[in-house]
Amino acid sequence: MTDRVIIFDTTLRDGEQALKASLTVKEKLQIALALERLGVDVMEVGFPVSSQGDFESVQTIARHIKNSRVAALSRAVDKDIDAAYEALKVAEAFRIHTFIASSALHVEAKLKRTFDEVVEMAVAAVKRARNYTDDVEFSCEDAGRTGIDNICRIVEAAINAGATTVNIPDTVGYCLPTEYGNIIAQVRNRVPNIDKAVISVHCHNDLGMATANSLTAVQNGARQIECTINGIGERAGNTALEEVVMAIKIRQELFGVDTRINTQEIHRVSQMVSQLCNMPIQPNKAIVGSNAFAHSSGIHQDGMLKNKNTYEIMSPETIGLKKEKLNLTARSGRAAVKGHMADMGYTEQDYDLDKLYDAFLKLADKKGQVFDYDLEALAFIDMQQGDEDRLVLDKLSAHSTKEYPATAFVQLQLDGEKLSTSSIGGNGPVDAVYNAILTLTGLDIKMSHYHLTAKGEGAEALGQVDIVVEHEGRKFHGVGLATDIVESSALALVHAINAIYRAHKVADIKHHKAVGA
Ligand code: KIV
Ligand code: ZN
Repeated sequence: MTDRVIIFDTTLRDGEQALKASLTVKEKLQIALALERLGVDVMEVGFPVSSQGDFESVQTIARHIKNSRVAALSRAVDKDIDAAYEALKVAEAFRIHTFIASSALHVEAKLKRTFDEVVEMAVAAVKRARNYTDDVEFSCEDAGRTGIDNICRIVEAAINAGATTVNIPDTVGYCLPTEYGNIIAQVRNRVPNIDKAVISVHCHNDLGMATANSLTAVQNGARQIECTINGIGERAGNTALEEVVMAIKIRQELFGVDTRINTQEIHRVSQMVSQLCNMPIQPNKAIVGSNAFAHSSGIHQDGMLKNKNTYEIMSPETIGLKKEKLNLTARSGRAAVKGHMADMGYTEQDYDLDKLYDAFLKLADKKGQVFDYDLEALAFIDMQQGDEDRLVLDKLSAHSTKEYPATAFVQLQLDGEKLSTSSIGGNGPVDAVYNAILTLTGLDIKMSHYHLTAKGEGAEALGQVDIVVEHEGRKFHGVGLATDIVESSALALVHAINAIYRAHKVADIKHHKAVGA
């Protein structure tokens, strides 16, 4: 029987903490449900003590997920461990993950402790977490730069205290594969009680080694890999889930292990994470980049036509990438739209068919043919919209020439009331439209990020605009999708403003509760 490697996904914790603007609870839940369908064994979904928002999202996800274990992070501090338990206790199965740094640099400069004190804190933290659950993971942060004697000592103490998984993070992506593999081999050979715990690895990609390090660790006895979808995460990111999973599958004869991942879900979850997290995937990214299965040169195309194995080590279908099928047009009915969504693996719980069909008809009127990737993009946008948007874009026209400043006319509805204005000037039509929207809403907003991507191919592609705006010291993400990029830009700003209005509403409710109103 082959050994199983546990896939511990940390997209919603280590991945999410690196985003420009945090995800909403609704977006996090969508991703968690997709990770569950993907078959991750454990999903780490937040750091509950860090904010009320994080606590609530961990709790919501814990309530909904049934087929993966839900984990939350805590420092080796009582209040963190208690908060993690409070958020997780509604879950079918959960894990508390507690960590403390072990490298001399972190222990002295950051924690201002001695290593002996750190070991004591680790032991106390694991014991406290064990009062709440039998499934406790301990991580010695910056293990990649910790002397091996100290790693072995703290790991042994954590296992004695009750840790069932011991994680050896290369927090700053410093190690090379042979070196990291050797650390894992030493932990396996030198820690006397290691048979009572699973060895886990957690690698960052600062030198581009995260995948190689994680796989070398598996060859040296690690049986859990911590990773994120598309490799998102702090700085250069974490180990990419899709890369380690596909390497283990395609080179099974070398590893002699397998995972529980349903690889056919990889493409879908990768697209969803990229979209909701506003993190584009580089085209040549292994496994999930748009060029990963594209063959350009004549020699390669000729080889592919003769025998696919000449230039393909895995088929696109293995990761759930399907070929374009029948076109959808304005004459297609709801059943056709539903059928295409089902072929892409979406159930009706994933999206609102009425809303999607309306958006589809509008697009089909403008574009003629609608492709699967258009439908998927519309469904993702719908996941990001709130249910009760106060602000709606009603009408928009913008005009610009080389000689004269751009002009725009915008009509909005705010709580059902129509407001309109014109604006002149700015750096072009998008700027003129933004000036008009901000004049109408009167909000003080600073644009900190604007990104335009084509969804689909050719001149007919939909234009997606992602923005991040700052308002009262907080960041809000907005996304808009349309065939016209000035309209996508306007929709993105309206989306971000609705998020600001929702945040104001939450703050008002909290204020009223606090004053007992
Ligand atoms: O990179 C790291 O060390 C971490 C730990 C909290 C596991 O993310
Ligand atoms: Zn990390």
